[in-house]
Amino acid sequence: MAAASAGDPLLGIETSCDESALALFDPARGLLGEWISSQVKLHAAYGGVVPDLASREHLENLPLLLREVLAAHPGLEPGGIAVTTGPGLAPCLALGLAAARALALRFQSPIHPVNHLRAHAFSVFIPAHEADPAGFASTLASHLPHLGLIVSGGNTLLIEIRPDLSLRLLGETIDDAGGEALDKAAKLLGLGYPGGPLIEQRAADGDPRAFDFPRALPGRDTFNFSFSGLKTSLRYRIQDWPPEAVRDRLADLCASYQEAVVAALARKVALALDRFPFRSLGLSGGVANNRSLRHRLAALADERGVAFLPALPRHTGDNAGMIAFTAWLDRHRPTAPLAIAPVWPPARQ
Ligand code: KG4
Repeated sequence: MAAASAGDPLLGIETSCDESALALFDPARGLLGEWISSQVKLHAAYGGVVPDLASREHLENLPLLLREVLAAHPGLEPGGIAVTTGPGLAPCLALGLAAARALALRFQSPIHPVNHLRAHAFSVFIPAHEADPAGFASTLASHLPHLGLIVSGGNTLLIEIRPDLSLRLLGETIDDAGGEALDKAAKLLGLGYPGGPLIEQRAADGDPRAFDFPRALPGRDTFNFSFSGLKTSLRYRIQDWPPEAVRDRLADLCASYQEAVVAALARKVALALDRFPFRSLGLSGGVANNRSLRHRLAALADERGVAFLPALPRHTGDNAGMIAFTAWLDRHRPTAPLAIAPVWPPARQ
């Protein structure tokens, strides 16, 4: 077997939480394929991700996914193996790293460690690359500096991507993440997990002005977010209500609560757009699926004359496409050591 060459596609591996995912990214053509095995149903029974169960599933799923990749691309010789090193659940990350090491040996190709949050930040540029791989470098340059909002069940971050592709953290949640606020509210309302999509569904028939929920940290002196007061306010509001009353006002409760989350996120985005000369605005992470949030940020970007770049629906959640893509974007940056890196700031900031 010949050693892989740099022109060959990159194989991405993502196992940071409850998705096992592989992807093949060809710089000249874009994503050739993405393979994902979700564990959402397994963990739904526990109301959240159980790390030991998740790692056991990765162990089962990764070889099955790899078999599918090789069936679709017989004779594959990846030019590199891109793997998520963190943040994430350590036993899950370890399985991804072990798979990366094995594949790197098998294909004699280099390993590219990728920070998961950095990949979420860059995932919003995948559509531009897909539209025009050859012109992508100049398109990317035209979008920088970029303001990115990453909102998921575990993170809420406002970041700047500078023209040299380094990241600067502008703000983050000081307690619950935006998705966590929605998940916890859904639990209080008896709706199930994950809560964001369930709240969005019910909110469609409700009045976002029916209930006045608090918007934390409204000041102009911080880009940080806070959602724990919002969740507590919902708990106090309904604690003495009989179940029928909650059921009768469910749509209005969901619409008003969702509005409080969206408004809090949009306020800090607007503040950052006013403060710095950004040329584009990105939205990624699981909560980026929320239509109300997308519309609000699209309108903000439009008002400020910056491009709005939401991640594709298949890249909002954890995925390996963004891992391979980010490894390619970072190909000229110094390589970080291969180790589990559970926290911000991303390596190679
Ligand atoms: O990035 P992600 O898939 O993984 C984790 O962070 O674990 O994000 C999942 C989060 C959950 O909190 C979920 O409730 C939220 O994203 N989410 C949504 C929607 N779809 C997923 N929140 C609001 N509206 C949605 N449509």
